[in-house]
Amino acid sequence: MDKKLRIAIDGPASAGKSTVAKILASDLNYIYCDTGAMYRVLTLQALRHDVDVEDESKLVALLKDTDITFEPDGNQQKVFLNGENVTTDIRQPDVTNAVSAVSAHKGVREELVRRQQVIAEAGGIVMDGRDIGTAVLPDAEVKIFLVASAKERAERRYKENISKGIETPLEVLQKEIEDRDYKDSHREVSPLVQADDAVLLDTTSLSIDEVVGRMKEIIQKLI
Ligand code: CDP
Ligand code: CDP
Repeated sequence: MDKKLRIAIDGPASAGKSTVAKILASDLNYIYCDTGAMYRVLTLQALRHDVDVEDESKLVALLKDTDITFEPDGNQQKVFLNGENVTTDIRQPDVTNAVSAVSAHKGVREELVRRQQVIAEAGGIVMDGRDIGTAVLPDAEVKIFLVASAKERAERRYKENISKGIETPLEVLQKEIEDRDYKDSHREVSPLVQADDAVLLDTTSLSIDEVVGRMKEIIQKLI
């Protein structure tokens, strides 16, 4: 593929976006950008500095002093906050539970969307999140909206947690996922919604390899 495409992947929590986006980016030799990690880094900063997650102006001020960078790590990616490796910290439950409140603020979104657009400027990128096809890259050449049933998504997260030695009951995970989906889909600014020109891909009964294969077929058809 010669053209440096912009591939936008959106969808609800734990639909498999980052897993397949990383593989796709590596196969195409593209950059991968996890926009959710950027909202998580600001949330971590807010918790560390005791900034109220409802206080938009304080969050925007904090974001000005928050440098967020990524570094490839084999098939994974490390995330840095002002040079500190926070890859693990941003996945902790306290951050996960507060991130939707932080990401709902217009001022926070404007600044992070601006940074994401700079990262995507040169093309050759797979970017995943909630509003990539609708707000960050409305002109992206490829837009895919990944979904899976809430039960399946909770089961995937459960297995992932078990492999890391964390045991959270399945029902708790499913409730957390549904709560976050609700907040992300009902906020005023850039809610989670499928772009009109995005291709819907239901991954409920698909393996990771099958999803990647389907995505490559979608890309071939679109270009
Ligand atoms: O990986 P997971 O599904 O847990 O979520 P994530 O992609 O890390 O995103 C964490 C949160 O950031 C989401 O629940 C949204 O509240 C917010 N987010 C957003 O608002 N817009 C994006 N483009 C990406 C994430
Ligand atoms: O980025 P997002 O929150 O959408 O999801 P993820 O973190 O990429 O995927 C959540 C979990 O589901 C991971 O443990 C993946 O390995 C797993 N997964 C899966 O079992 N089957 C798929 N088709 C896609 C992801």
